[in-house]
Amino acid sequence: MARTQTDPVRIGLVGLGWFGRLHRQVWDSCPGAEVVAICDVDAAAARGEGESAQDAFHTTAGTGGAARSVQDIPAFSDITQMLQACEIDLVDIATPEALHAGHAQTALTAGKPVIIEKPFTTSGADARELARMAQAADLPVCVGNILRFDPRYMHVMAQFKALGQKPQHLSLQRHFQRSALAVYGRVDPFYGACIHDIDLAIWSQGARPTRALGHISRHQQSGEVIAATGMLEWASGHTAVIQNAWIMPAATPAGFAFESTFLARDQALTVRSQPVVEQIGAARSDWPEFFFWPEIGGDIDGALRRELTHYLDCARDRKPSDRLPLDEAVWGIETADALVRSAMTGHWQDVGV
Ligand SMILES: NC(=O)c1ccc[n+]([C@@H]2O[C@H](COP(=O)([O-])OP(=O)(O)OC[C@H]3O[C@@H](n4cnc5c(N)ncnc54)[C@H](O)[C@@H]3O)[C@@H](O)[C@H]2O)c1
Repeated sequence: MARTQTDPVRIGLVGLGWFGRLHRQVWDSCPGAEVVAICDVDAAAARGEGESAQDAFHTTAGTGGAARSVQDIPAFSDITQMLQACEIDLVDIATPEALHAGHAQTALTAGKPVIIEKPFTTSGADARELARMAQAADLPVCVGNILRFDPRYMHVMAQFKALGQKPQHLSLQRHFQRSALAVYGRVDPFYGACIHDIDLAIWSQGARPTRALGHISRHQQSGEVIAATGMLEWASGHTAVIQNAWIMPAATPAGFAFESTFLARDQALTVRSQPVVEQIGAARSDWPEFFFWPEIGGDIDGALRRELTHYLDCARDRKPSDRLPLDEAVWGIETADALVRSAMTGHWQDVGV
């Protein structure tokens, strides 16, 4: 029987690690969504019993990321087998960064709309190829650049739009505890953490930067990343400076700190990580994060929920997102590529070559 607009969108979730489990929790409480298949190479993760290092360094409101049993849902260790065995309307990819492009290509080849966690891909060539495939197949490819759905940044962009201006300079800082590097250091920081701020900068300008200068500082003995720093420039002369360090103390509230300033003539807007609720205990004080993926009343809320419900609509209507046009996600990866090349050569690099 033909499916109708009111039938739930049947989701195949690929990658049931720390963030895939949060996606799962959003879908569980999202009207019109149904996770019908899961796929993970780790059998414990596929059963919903995975344990993640991330639980120790992310403090979020509620219990966010808690494992839930998925034993009632067919589980696979291979995305192709999952797509062959199950009727799926949307593939949601939350696997490690370097696997996104391959998993998305498999899903698009099978004729499925996809959601891909950030970073979209780890090379501009892969990003462009996915955009080409999406256009050829007329399928939405939705990228998890979550700050597009954070009300604080939505407010900033709306203010500039109302003024008819673009920020002339952006100062974007986002810092994490060293323990987070054990997981997210598996990818170059310009694709990992910096992609959030690269995307903010592209969102604010509505254009691809023309050139980029990148630098990565490393620990002298271990070679571990201390900080990634990038500078972007647009044809308009507007600029952005992006800073991302991995040496915040373990007691950092919420596990990370950020400050993003958007400057134009007679206009300066700053978003920073600040407490919504202060939680002071005998041994430690903290503040749980309330904007990204807080668990409120048992459901995952915040920007992640706003993002996934928007992308659910895109998949149902088979329409690309107007909140994050795919071209802009491609520009983000091309910008990260240029920053990586620049950090290797010590010179400015053109973006998108
Ligand atoms: N939007 C955000 O702010 C945000 C926050 C955290 C993570 N993420 C992104 O989410 C993605 C997942 O991150 P995570 O923290 O959950 O990592 P993770 O390592 O905890 O989870 C990845 C999962 O993928 C599984 N996997 C590995 N290879 C696979 C394969 N071939 N097929 C199926 N499953 C496979 C692993 O077994 C693991 O369970 C990453 O791209 C990360 O950057 C985004």
